[in-house]
Amino acid sequence: MNTEPQIEFQIKDLYKSFSGNAVLKGINLELYSGEIIAIVGGSGCGKTVLLNSILGQYAIDKGSIRILDRTHDIAELKNLNEFNALDIDDIHKHWGVVFQRNALFSGSVYFNIALWLKEIKGLEDDVIKPIAERALASVDLPNDKQFMDKSSNALSGGMAKRLAIARAISMDPYVLFYDEPTTGLDPTSSTNIHDLIFNIHNTNLDDESKRTSIIITHDKDLLSRLRPRTIMLHHGKVHFDGPFEQFEKSQSDVIRPYFDMMPVLHKKDNEETEIDTSLYKRKGLLTE
Ligand SMILES: Nc1ncnc2c1ncn2[C@@H]1O[C@H](COP(=O)(O)OP(=O)(O)OP(=O)(O)O)[C@@H](O)[C@H]1O
Ligand SMILES: [Mg+2]
Repeated sequence: MNTEPQIEFQIKDLYKSFSGNAVLKGINLELYSGEIIAIVGGSGCGKTVLLNSILGQYAIDKGSIRILDRTHDIAELKNLNEFNALDIDDIHKHWGVVFQRNALFSGSVYFNIALWLKEIKGLEDDVIKPIAERALASVDLPNDKQFMDKSSNALSGGMAKRLAIARAISMDPYVLFYDEPTTGLDPTSSTNIHDLIFNIHNTNLDDESKRTSIIITHDKDLLSRLRPRTIMLHHGKVHFDGPFEQFEKSQSDVIRPYFDMMPVLHKKDNEETEIDTSLYKRKGLLTE
């Protein structure tokens, strides 16, 4: 049996800037199937830009992103720039994304789950309904008709986050991306989301493949619970890439202050105005 780790994403010398603002300045990463990975780094350092680059949402300036294409009988690493928009839709059949700020559609709970299943997977309502029921139950949300008819605008922050996760897992994805899945949630809801991410990660797919989970986060408790491979971006490059155990013990003068300020960054959506960010800005950990 082939026990070589399978590369899911291979990023080489990736550069991305916006109107002269260089955000990613030579990112090199290899992410393997089955890994649970956290991407951390100061606010504005380019974590979401890296995710959007992998998702094929915009053209990169330089370098390459190769992704494991599972849409044919033999899975193959392919350069993202060889894909057209339809191919990218095909790839997205195997990925689930929980966007920062959820990006729920206005419309019902059911509509939020059904749309991608219809548009990307081409499924019909009679097939989607049981998928939606299972996905909602697995994130501990009600799954009766009354709840599915509810407007997504009427949900609390924690419920909206759960719906965003239910929407992502309803695709039964090989790869799950979570962009700050717990920012702005209370500690109990956050703990529930940590458990959920952990359990989803460890639920094998129908073909017994393992899932790959990539989590952008400032949540120290999430890191302590999941103990992922930790990747820190800083000044547009990969500053650290290794086990969480090494990350938390690191005495690096970039990692130490970042690690200590994680709880503050984690709460930023709620308490933005109360934080004195000048120290973090001086250290280059906050660019906004
Ligand atoms: N579409 C865009 N157009 C112009 N600038 C952008 C765009 N997207 C991101 N940026 C800039 O790129 C930088 C990195 O942004 P990004 O959203 O990746 O930060 P982040 O690391 O995800 O931060 P946070 O932890 O606050 O979410 C910021 O300076 C941001 O203003
Ligand atoms: Mg972000």
